[in-house]
Amino acid sequence: MVKPTPVRSLRVAVVGVGYVGLSTAVCVASKYPTIAIDINKTRVSGLNSGVVPIHEKGLQDLLRKGLATRRLSFSSTYEELANAEVIFIAVGTPSTGDGSIDLSQVRASCAAIGEAINPSRTMPLILMKSTVVPGTARTLVKAILERHSDKTCGRDFGLCSNPEFLREGSAIQDTLSPDRVVLGPFDELSNHLARSFYQRFYGRGFKNLLITSPEGAELVKYGSNALLATKVSFINLIAGLCERFPGTDVGEVARGMGMDHRIGPHFLQAGPGFGGSCFPKDVRALVKSVTDSGLDPSMLQSVLEVNESQPNHVVRLAEKAAGSLQGKEIAVLGLAFKAETDDIRESRSIPLIQRLLEIGGKVRVYDPVAMPASKGALASRVVYSSSVSDCIRGADVAIVMTDWRQFKKLKPEYFLKLMKSPVLVDARRIYDPRTFSRKLRYVAVGLGTEEGPA
Ligand code: NAD
Ligand code: UGA
Repeated sequence: MVKPTPVRSLRVAVVGVGYVGLSTAVCVASKYPTIAIDINKTRVSGLNSGVVPIHEKGLQDLLRKGLATRRLSFSSTYEELANAEVIFIAVGTPSTGDGSIDLSQVRASCAAIGEAINPSRTMPLILMKSTVVPGTARTLVKAILERHSDKTCGRDFGLCSNPEFLREGSAIQDTLSPDRVVLGPFDELSNHLARSFYQRFYGRGFKNLLITSPEGAELVKYGSNALLATKVSFINLIAGLCERFPGTDVGEVARGMGMDHRIGPHFLQAGPGFGGSCFPKDVRALVKSVTDSGLDPSMLQSVLEVNESQPNHVVRLAEKAAGSLQGKEIAVLGLAFKAETDDIRESRSIPLIQRLLEIGGKVRVYDPVAMPASKGALASRVVYSSSVSDCIRGADVAIVMTDWRQFKKLKPEYFLKLMKSPVLVDARRIYDPRTFSRKLRYVAVGLGTEEGPA
């Protein structure tokens, strides 16, 4: 029987070097020797030369430090994983056509981890960070790991569901100082190893450690994302009502609601809907899981329906202000699904632009960091601008879709000076309606006007 490794001499491996895996790897490497494994060879060789593949605050700095101290390295093979005492799984779980999650990356990585730890004499702890529906860690992850390693969970290795709650744009800060760590260990050994690891990593004073069943941990993840997404759709529905009452502003309504400590002020910012790699995918997966369990998913379906309708609603706001958009020059400011990231997965800008093109608009786009990532989705159907001024110069309509700081700073005079006919659609509510409506044709999500709704 092998013995648990004393926590002091930890060697860590991270499997999957996307937003979650890379943020985890650079943070963990500030304490422990870390090997990060990804099947994407280009990404691995870039990272070994210090090239950060994603836009994330603080990542470059920690990557540089990790490489310089030789505590961090990247590999496209699993061999070095054999010596690891803690292994994070952070591969992708994208949506499939029916809303369920594609588990092929989880299957492949677990099989490879199992084979790699087969000859190992250590007792590794495996932490399942990828988001998976309740029951997946037990029926799939544990089963594959045991089969391919020829070892037994709870005796030869530890395994916990350990969902990740970081936000893109503040991934490093969220990893170094999380609101909570949720652990769903399969047995006492896994519980002991995981608690020791996290208490050592965050310090003995770290109190926000919650231990649940593995399925409980998986559900904390889905419950959290679905509730946050519900708040966003809820306020977007209220925003639609605000537009029917002149002088009514969803910003004020949300502020008033958020002053109730039971509701709280967060995630009540009306806008073009939620995007990103997780809210849409996770709510869809929860709908599927709820349906498969014989429960009624209609509440969650409504959250998705409101979200799907928001980009078209923004287009209608533009039509309300500018009339028919056919043949008009439309500047779309913002492609990322939110500020401080280059991620365009499920960004609401994409369906908005598709709709604008369908109705005959001529679209130019600008985003401070997400332009390269957008070229696959938008190809040559839009004009890529090199700056905000390049994008809005001579335009008939400008639509703000991402709440980038540099967009927030723009003054009404700037739009007036550069645009052909200054019609501004503030889909993110980043401007003061009083200042802007005095100077140009300003319409916004959740802002009631005399002409009525879009
Ligand atoms: P991602 O798509 O950015 O990265 C996944 C990485 O895994 C890719 O680099 C891919 O090449 C690699 N990979 C695929 N198969 C592999 C294999 N067999 N072996 C090794 N590497 C492999 O994904 P992400 O955004 O980092 O998300 C990862 C998981 O974490 C998902 O389940 C997601 O739902 C969840 N999550 C994401 C976020 C986020 O903000 N992005 C936050 C919390 C949780
Ligand atoms: C979200 C969660 O906040 C994280 O806790 C979670 O780990 C992550 O999903 C995940 O599972 O991947 P993220 O997708 O990075 O993080 O972005 P959020 O800041 O949550 O925003 C999601 C979307 O909702 C964005 O499109 C954002 O613009 C939109 N949103 C958010 C609003 O429209 N209004 C709000 O008030 C808040």
